[in-house]
Amino acid sequence: MSNSVTVDTKPYEGQKPGTSGLRKKVKVFIQENYTENFIQCILDVNKTSLIGSTLVVGGDGRYLVKEVVDKIIKISAANGVSKLIVGQNGILSTPAVSYIIRKYKTLGGIVLTASHNPGGADEDFGIKFNCSNGGPASDATTDAIYKLTTSIKQYKIVPDLNCAIDKIDVHTFKVDQRQFTVEVIDAVEDYVSYMKEIFDFPKIKALIQGTEQRKPFNVLIDAMNGVTGPYVKRIFLEELGCSEKNVRRIVPLEDFGGAHPDPNLTYAADLVEAVKEGDYDFGAAFDGDGDRNMILGRDAFFVTPSDSLAVLADNLECIPYFARGGVRGLARSMPTAAAVDRVAAARALPLFEVPTGWKYFGNLMDAGQLSLCGEESFGTGSDHVREKDGLWAALAWLSLLAHSGRSVQEMLQAHWKQFGRNYFTRYDYENCTSESCEEMMSVLERTMTSPGFVGSAHSAGGKEYVVKLADNFSYVDPIDQSVAKRQGLRIIFEDGSRIVFRLSGTGSSGATVRVYVDSYEAVSVGGAAADALGPLVSIALDISRLKQYTGRDEPTVIT
Ligand code: G1P
Ligand code: ZN
Repeated sequence: MSNSVTVDTKPYEGQKPGTSGLRKKVKVFIQENYTENFIQCILDVNKTSLIGSTLVVGGDGRYLVKEVVDKIIKISAANGVSKLIVGQNGILSTPAVSYIIRKYKTLGGIVLTASHNPGGADEDFGIKFNCSNGGPASDATTDAIYKLTTSIKQYKIVPDLNCAIDKIDVHTFKVDQRQFTVEVIDAVEDYVSYMKEIFDFPKIKALIQGTEQRKPFNVLIDAMNGVTGPYVKRIFLEELGCSEKNVRRIVPLEDFGGAHPDPNLTYAADLVEAVKEGDYDFGAAFDGDGDRNMILGRDAFFVTPSDSLAVLADNLECIPYFARGGVRGLARSMPTAAAVDRVAAARALPLFEVPTGWKYFGNLMDAGQLSLCGEESFGTGSDHVREKDGLWAALAWLSLLAHSGRSVQEMLQAHWKQFGRNYFTRYDYENCTSESCEEMMSVLERTMTSPGFVGSAHSAGGKEYVVKLADNFSYVDPIDQSVAKRQGLRIIFEDGSRIVFRLSGTGSSGATVRVYVDSYEAVSVGGAAADALGPLVSIALDISRLKQYTGRDEPTVIT
């Protein structure tokens, strides 16, 4: 029998969740009561539903996850939560949390991750609240959490409640006369059985192992020392019959082994090398918490996430989940290249364009209007959960390849031939000074909205583009009519090409400028993206005077 106590505390500034939860340096989270305050505010937002409720808790295995799980257990017990479902050792991938919330119909879940940001004592940590639909909390909820953090005076905790999370087990406690249960679950079991319902595993296995007619299809799957390691092990080694040479970095490490666990051409460059050098037909990598993916073909042929979404959209019927349930609608975030729009048009499916961040897809999925969606930032997923899902994307691609008998590159070439090609690139300028970036954005917005900008012609590299529309993107949610304003500056040209500017909402310090460029070619589809986009990139840098404001000659990352 334990009792809760009330501890006096003071608000911390800046506990405002960004695109995907509260992300700060570990040093910030370990300040006295900093983490406790934020957890208490998450629980307070759910105050009226806490008694008798169940929450799911897990994270990506980074530094501090276990300590924070312990705090969540102690604080949840004191606040009347009835039960926590916790991943063994605090491990659960973000899509697995989403699935477990939905499967066990819980009030929600707390995800401990800073996603693809580096981990370790000097790096990043993050806390995110997901609601009962399994998706990231809405802006209204995160705003309410933030508001509570600005005035918090006390939190409740059961200091002497100690619960081991290293073994699968059910622990029950008596707290303040109530029963409190912590169920420690196998981190991968539920998720893997769900994947086996969604996909045709025997078909994927036959692809990978080869048949009399077809030689084995050699895959290389990289968990980047993140949370997907145990999932990759179970799915690829145990279920699909792969061997050790088909997987890499599958043990989750607190600092991701020093890697920046972001699956793109810059941070997953060694996977690119390994696929190039080895005899591999397919490569995939996932980020720290398992919701992002990068897909490569033979010789490290790179599939842009925008193209990946479009190709999947055009072939979903070969996946049992969609063959059974049908495809209702498609969606992408605003900066994502518009390749999927053409598939939607060809198939007469509704197409939604939402602001950056997975939370905006959830309402559409809950309303049964959206089946598949994606973001250019290496996020792809479907309504099987309410998060993007890296492993799901790799399995979806393998399903398409098994079905079509084509290589990754052949799939893309056939797609471009039919639909034309949206060349896309994103330039990131990381860790710049916040003030100058904000100034750049407001000056640019003024330029873009001044009279005469629409209709103006801009030329570079022998090409001319005429502005058709220029605005700061706002979105009205078609389901609940909530409005998200100022979601990115976009310039759309007469030929459909686009330039978008945004400041990142996931950084833990300073500002990151993202410049997105999307250009459509109906016929000339075989060129290099850098050549096709060069003129628009230089127009973007000119209009925004980006070099002057950021002091940077080159971006940190180009994707
Ligand atoms: C970034 C991506 C965005 C994604 C988010 C979470 O957010 O751009 O698409 O949803 O990470 O993975 P940003 O830093 O741009 O706000
Ligand atoms: Zn992530």
